[in-house]
Amino acid sequence: MNAPAAPLEVARFRTLLAERLGLDFDEHKLTTLAKVLDSCSGGDRQRILADLAGTAPADSLLSRLATELTVTETYFFRSGDQLRAFGELALPERQQLRGRAEVLSAGCASGEEPFSLAMMARSCGRDSCLSLHAFDANPAMLARAARARYSTWSLRELPDDWRPWLQPDGEQFQLAQEIRRAVRFEQRNLALDDPAFWQPGRFDIVFCRNVLMYFTPQQSQAAVARIARALAPGGYLFLGHAETLRGLSNDFRLCHSHGTFYYQRSAGGEQAMPALPAAAQPMPVLRPATPPEPLWAEQIERASRRIDALASSARAAPPCTPATPDLQMAMASLHQERFGQVLEHIGKLPPQHAADPDVLLLKAVTQAQSGTVARARETCAALLGRDALHAGAHYVLALCEEMDGELAAALDHYQGAAYLAPGFAMARLQAGRLLRRLGQPEAARRELALAAQMLEGEDAARLLLFGGGFPRAALLSLCLAELATMGAAS
Ligand SMILES: C[S@@+](CC[C@H](N)C(=O)[O-])C[C@H]1O[C@@H](n2cnc3c(N)ncnc32)[C@H](O)[C@@H]1O
Repeated sequence: MNAPAAPLEVARFRTLLAERLGLDFDEHKLTTLAKVLDSCSGGDRQRILADLAGTAPADSLLSRLATELTVTETYFFRSGDQLRAFGELALPERQQLRGRAEVLSAGCASGEEPFSLAMMARSCGRDSCLSLHAFDANPAMLARAARARYSTWSLRELPDDWRPWLQPDGEQFQLAQEIRRAVRFEQRNLALDDPAFWQPGRFDIVFCRNVLMYFTPQQSQAAVARIARALAPGGYLFLGHAETLRGLSNDFRLCHSHGTFYYQRSAGGEQAMPALPAAAQPMPVLRPATPPEPLWAEQIERASRRIDALASSARAAPPCTPATPDLQMAMASLHQERFGQVLEHIGKLPPQHAADPDVLLLKAVTQAQSGTVARARETCAALLGRDALHAGAHYVLALCEEMDGELAAALDHYQGAAYLAPGFAMARLQAGRLLRRLGQPEAARRELALAAQMLEGEDAARLLLFGGGFPRAALLSLCLAELATMGAAS
């Protein structure tokens, strides 16, 4: 019997898997990787590692690894709100614009996703002038898609009116030919660039859901760049509901309709658009002006640490030679709600700091809190011009919309901020308050309960920036009082 794989061999295997298939495996998966390396190599691990490291690894090896190592969970009508946005908005818009629509399901697994797109297109009367492509790296999944026979588990979310397309056949259900014929499948590796496939502007709509979440950050970024290149300007990208483009790309605007988020490819030369659209209309939010910024969560943590240090030193004796004197004083002034002074300090910053995202955010918060809504909007637009998916900018825009009485638009932005930064307590709290006012008590309860949980551990500096001058305990009380009011009302 061969000796088990050495840790260095497994580490090399892990690196090569990330390079070749994009897949990211954490420390807990090392035992699995060692087993797969052994089973694929037939005892000659060095040969497999050398093949993977070579210029053109064998397709059969990559197929086998994809079969062994990918997560393939999928089902019909997954995230139905996105399918409705596809059928009712994205598809008609693209067909109208280009006369036809090219749609791609990247990482289609056993076919439920592209077949759901075909069914949705048919349900909406949009199935002519439509090409549906689908690919996956895992050949076992493509073989299932070709059989198109599914279990009841795959059909668990299927709407009743779509049932006739799946006829019982023994213990399973066979998909109707008219839907099967609508999708062209192929085996393809998303981690591999192929200019002949990813031609500029080729696709109108791309679904790449629950695939990038298994990729390394570098490979996610490269795959999104490939998709961005192949999407026509104005084309749509749908990710899984737990995935965002935050930190991955600045080539897209965030859109919100049908109760879901998705992205639209920015057109070249377009101006930044600061506001999310009203519900049921896709909303341009920004356009790329700089390379992707670090994740917003990281940015805010960095800003928070900076601001926290600044705020605490501002409470103590003013330092004689502060490293960033103007920002320190600006933060101290915000703490004391001296908004004019904050803006004065910011205005005196050297030009190279004036467009720093932390500075723009502080400025926008101050302008919104002091009621100069138009200026706050302008500052948010500048911030979004630097970082298209900046959750803080959406939060401040929501404040502006709320002050202007545009509650639906405000809700879009609060929800956008919470989507882009899942731990953002204040965005949840504000969304919950608005949902209650807009007569959506169930959704309001959900958001407020999440906010109450998150507020406990919310960063102090983030509360200082976004809490409107209220301390943590007051915000928590507000949250609980809102929840109690609804409890009493129901
Ligand atoms: C969790 S499934 C998602 C299926 C479907 N998109 C959905 O959301 O229901 C992920 C799929 O991505 C595929 N995948 C993973 N890495 C890939 C790669 N490098 N190239 C193409 N497909 C890949 C897997 O084989 C798997 O079928």
